[in-house]
Amino acid sequence: MAEIESRGTPTLTDKLQDWFNRRLPFFWHNWFSAAGSVLVVTVSSLMLLLFGLYIYNLILARESNPYVDLIAFLILPGFLVLGVLLLIIGRAVRRARERKYGPQPSAVQIGGATLVRKAAVVSIVAFLFLLGIGLFSYEAYHFTDSTEFCAHVCHTVMAPEATTYTDSPHTNVPCVSCHIGTGASWYVRAKISGIRQVFAVLTDSYSRPIPSPVENLRPARETCEVCHWPTKFHGSKLVVRKHYEPDRDNTETVTANVLHVGGPDSPGGGAVGIHWHVDRANQVRYRHLDRERRDIVEVVQRTAAGEIRYLKDGADPDSTVGTWRVMDCLDCHNRPTHVFVLPEAAVDMALANGRLDSSVPFLRRESVRVLREVPPDADTAARLSESLRAIYQNEHPEDLPALLAVIESTAAELAQILDRNVFPDMGITWGPYTSNLSHFDADGELGTGGCFRCHSDEHISEAGDEISQDCEKCHALLAWQEPDWEGLAGVGAEAFLRR
Ligand code: HEC
Ligand code: HEC
Ligand code: HEC
Ligand code: HEC
Ligand code: HEC
Repeated sequence: MAEIESRGTPTLTDKLQDWFNRRLPFFWHNWFSAAGSVLVVTVSSLMLLLFGLYIYNLILARESNPYVDLIAFLILPGFLVLGVLLLIIGRAVRRARERKYGPQPSAVQIGGATLVRKAAVVSIVAFLFLLGIGLFSYEAYHFTDSTEFCAHVCHTVMAPEATTYTDSPHTNVPCVSCHIGTGASWYVRAKISGIRQVFAVLTDSYSRPIPSPVENLRPARETCEVCHWPTKFHGSKLVVRKHYEPDRDNTETVTANVLHVGGPDSPGGGAVGIHWHVDRANQVRYRHLDRERRDIVEVVQRTAAGEIRYLKDGADPDSTVGTWRVMDCLDCHNRPTHVFVLPEAAVDMALANGRLDSSVPFLRRESVRVLREVPPDADTAARLSESLRAIYQNEHPEDLPALLAVIESTAAELAQILDRNVFPDMGITWGPYTSNLSHFDADGELGTGGCFRCHSDEHISEAGDEISQDCEKCHALLAWQEPDWEGLAGVGAEAFLRR
């Protein structure tokens, strides 16, 4: 470079400048390439550092800080790409100049005090820049993790889940505690699938209703078990429910059931009862043919002595069609939060709590009927009230006055039930989201769903054993829809003991 040579004995900065010009024309030729190279060098060294930290945490099996990982894996790579783009633009600019004016000197001159000044400016700019990214991404991370964001940004789409969530035992548990859990990799996965979902909303191409079960939901071990310790012994739990017959008197009956929830930490050692499945010593896995995991054709129970394989009656023993899944909390508690209730159960609850008046003849039957017939809209209560009045006028004219006395509160209560459980915009009428925590059909008969997907006389081991359908194994039924139940005084204490 003639310029430098003409200055006589080269100084250290001259040498440095010469070196830059010769060695790094690509990286240091004009302000584009200069900015690009600062970005590439700072960002890649930061990434290396954070990646080292990530590996270190991985080796020590420590929970890494999701915020740090987010920067390392999501934000910084973006800036690395930006740096490389700047380098490419810088090179193109230089090429264009060279074609026009011949060989170009470096645009970035290094010399004495200006070098220090420039270095200082560059570092301050780089620092402010990274600080900006940091603060922005921290806020973005927290915002996109908030229940507010999950529940309300796509209001219509999330309305059914957000509504049922607000009215559930987990209403103070943030959506992300169950849907994402801790750690960066699940965060990133969730956000990537979130981007796809935003696209589906923008293009109006999402499924209605949203399919359940959620595929690739994080294993319960890493979400539910953060709060619910599986080795806690739950013992037995008495559940008493009132049901009402669809007759003139809305005849009240009582079902009292002692559930053997049990668990691993039983006094006698070993696991007993319903929570036997989630004891660390046991594993149950199953193969299902359908997306909903209802059609279970093979179940394998791991025991200390080996594995027991139960095959569904008529299933081909050599077939491998379907999907395997290891059973966890969600195979029973699939609706711990988004609990949708059928009209029969909802009306029973309202009658039991006195929110509906059980002295109004036929109220159980006709309430369920209008709930099933009237779709919710802006005037749900008015339309329910109209329908009820018409039914009583035509079919029970002698009971109309009793209804009219309470028609307003009745319609309001039914409207609330309807608005809580039915979301036509999302394709949710009564019953697409059913619970696995029991074994009844929608019509109240012993069915084939829930526990009975496996506990049926159709799942048989090589030794000829069934997966037990013995009522007493799961619960002690003290009363089953009894109109005149005497209460607990009428049952001996032994009914509460397991098996
Ligand atoms: C206590 C844990 C928990 C919390 C808290 C929670 N969910 Fe869920 N959510 C689940 C489970 C479990 C499923 C069903 C998964 C399955 O069956 O595979 C689910 C399913 C869903 C589905 C799929 C459709 C459906 O109903 O099955 C959506 C959408 C959803 N949740 C959104 C949310 C939103 C939004 C929030 C916060 C307002 C939230 N969830 C809070 C556990 C939770
Ligand atoms: C962030 C903590 C947290 C997480 C995560 C969590 N829960 Fe809970 N869970 C709670 C709290 C708090 C309650 C309410 C306890 C109460 O009111 O007595 C609860 C209650 C329950 C109950 C009893 C409900 C009832 O009707 O009384 C069940 C069952 C349950 N959770 C299952 C689950 C399952 C399954 C998951 C995973 C999908 C889960 N929980 C995730 C904190 C959590
Ligand atoms: C085989 C089915 C099944 C599995 C698997 C299962 N549960 Fe349960 N669980 C039940 C049933 C049934 C009940 C009692 C239901 C009720 O309260 O009405 C129950 C009750 C509970 C309760 C409430 C206990 C109480 O005393 O009120 C909690 C909390 C709970 N389960 C959490 C979990 C967690 C966490 C897991 C996973 C580690 C899990 N369950 C796995 C079936 C299951
Ligand atoms: C994916 C299949 C599957 C599902 C679903 C399932 N179980 Fe089981 N369960 C098994 C297998 C396998 C065994 C072990 C064989 C046996 O005891 O008959 C078992 C055993 C049990 C036992 C006996 C545990 C002991 O003390 O030996 C109880 C109680 C039980 N299950 C309750 C339930 C309840 C309640 C539900 C529904 C909420 C349920 N199970 C759902 C597969 C399943
Ligand atoms: C594999 C375990 C299991 C077996 C076997 C089983 N049940 Fe159940 N049963 C349950 C669970 C879980 C529930 C739901 C608990 C609840 O009410 O939340 C339940 C609830 C019930 C209820 C109460 C419904 C209500 O309205 O509250 C009745 C009645 C019942 N079972 C009858 C039977 C009969 C009869 C048998 C024998 C043919 C039987 N069950 C076998 C697990 C079982």
